Amino acid sequence: MRVHIADHPLITHKLTVLRDATTPSPMFRQLTEELMTLLAYEATRSVRVEECEVTTPVTTTTGVKIADPKPLVVPILRAGLGMLEGMTKLIPTAEVGFLGLVRDEETLKPTTYAERLPDNLAGRQCFALDPMLATGGSLAAAITYLFDRGATEVTAVCLLGTPEGVHAIESLVGDRDVTLVLGALDERLDQKGFIVPGLGDAGDRLYGTT
Ligand code: PRP
Repeated sequence: MRVHIADHPLITHKLTVLRDATTPSPMFRQLTEELMTLLAYEATRSVRVEECEVTTPVTTTTGVKIADPKPLVVPILRAGLGMLEGMTKLIPTAEVGFLGLVRDEETLKPTTYAERLPDNLAGRQCFALDPMLATGGSLAAAITYLFDRGATEVTAVCLLGTPEGVHAIESLVGDRDVTLVLGALDERLDQKGFIVPGLGDAGDRLYGTT
């Protein structure tokens, strides 16, 4: 598995505001979207393209366009929904699938309450979006869904991750083609399964349910 941790002052700046407990929901949503757009630059580095001809006002030349089948973007509900626009703004032709997962607050195990993915993902490049990689249980479940449907390549984008979460995903995927793009790698998980220092509960902060 390839792990890419963003190293860019603008990303760190925006993450710092996101971490601030006094940042209100509207700004939190805006920053989440902007961070996704910045992380998409790295996450789409290997997006498949094909050559095409383009006629400029001056001449005809060769360019590229995103290849078929188009990438599949999968926000993990709820919190991953906050990242969707930031990704589809850059790849408007991508298809979008949905996975709804929620963690039990005691056991920290995820359960699936919604799933709307294409039946056959053979040959598709998939992008899973979730702001938080804590124990890794939710992202592991999402990646498993995608590989079970035939995906051959998954890129996961998370704003924050923990060493524990990265390790869990590494053990799950073995030698399958997975790339993990993180805005930052935080220190650790606490006893309640929260990322430390983290930013609290991303779903609650995005949707104002605290
Ligand atoms: C949070 C977060 C991730 C998951 C991370 O979602 O958005 O999906 O927990 O934890 P894990 O790595 O230990 O699985 P939550 O279950 O709170 O649901 P929500 O997105 O609806 O808020």
